[in-house]
Amino acid sequence: MACLIGTDVSLAASLLKAGKLVAFATETVYGLGADALNPTAVAGVFRAKNRPTFDPLIVHIAEMDWLDRLVESVPDRAKRLAERFWPGPLTIVLPKRTIVPDLVTSGLSTVAVRMPDHALALRLLREAGVPVAAPSANPFGRLSPTTAAHVAEMLGEQIDYILDGGSCRVGVESTVVQVLDDIGPVLLLRPGGLAQEEIEACVGRVETPPETAHPSAQAQPAPGMLPRHYAPSTPLVVVDCINSLPAGAERRGLLTLSPIADGSRFTAAEVLSASGDLSKAAAGFFSALRRLDAADVDVIVAMRFPDEGLGRALNDRLSRAAEKVTGPDSV
Ligand code: TXA
Ligand code: MG
Repeated sequence: MACLIGTDVSLAASLLKAGKLVAFATETVYGLGADALNPTAVAGVFRAKNRPTFDPLIVHIAEMDWLDRLVESVPDRAKRLAERFWPGPLTIVLPKRTIVPDLVTSGLSTVAVRMPDHALALRLLREAGVPVAAPSANPFGRLSPTTAAHVAEMLGEQIDYILDGGSCRVGVESTVVQVLDDIGPVLLLRPGGLAQEEIEACVGRVETPPETAHPSAQAQPAPGMLPRHYAPSTPLVVVDCINSLPAGAERRGLLTLSPIADGSRFTAAEVLSASGDLSKAAAGFFSALRRLDAADVDVIVAMRFPDEGLGRALNDRLSRAAEKVTGPDSV
């Protein structure tokens, strides 16, 4: 834990401008930022996270007019989405301009952009005056951080500063959509902190591209959607009801949206919301998984969330935490 944690926006901005790595709070999760237009700085992000370079980064902006520097065009539906939901937990994939380094986009002809809804993050971006490429500030494949302490624990040695903006309000990564033109469908590439229902109320039906079982790098529409991701080190199983508990495990940890009748079969339990509120559940999701991971249990039993609103993003994260994949994808 060698790096500095603080709230000094000017210091953080000058570090970014100098090509250094700065982790910062957003409303979704903490990001690990570098000047998006400086390929050497961006290379440092991939190195610190041990992230494969086929997995492109999101570029964060503070003002709508920064978009024109980064993208060739903003189709009408993308404009509507940005005007309605930015700043906020929505990332929009658009045709990129050549100014965006290939390393940021993993050689794709598109770039993912978002304006975070966090006062400190916006001040950082404005003061640095550069778009900031930032994946979640965790080693590749692990649980996303929702506090400065999580970042320090996992990546403290490798980064120059952590801008501490408290606990992330949304708690799950942004929803990623792709809008390439005014004709084709709006594609939902990753469910996240903005519910699909809200997006559809704004631009009509969105389509979900099929996921290949074993994605090879460039074949994925959202290369970051690898089967094994967002994972604790303890094995995790997803169940629909707790009558179907995994056999053989002595010590079980429970992750559940709302309280259950018989909690005594679990060594540790995390109830995300007494009233079953999915926003509250998302806000506490990664912290709860982290506590269960540290609770010395043999297995984490996670109850599936209702398949609506933010429940879809949480179920997506659970299925990626649970899947057992061997080979190069299981990092
Ligand atoms: O909430 C968030 O989105 C956080 C905060 C820090 O902003 N960031 C985040 O970044 O979750 P990351 O790198 O963990 O996830 C980025 C996702 C990946 O699934 C990646 O494949 C996808 O966005 N992505 C990035 N650029 C893309 C592109 N050009 N086309 C398709 N997918 C893209
Ligand atoms: Mg991530």
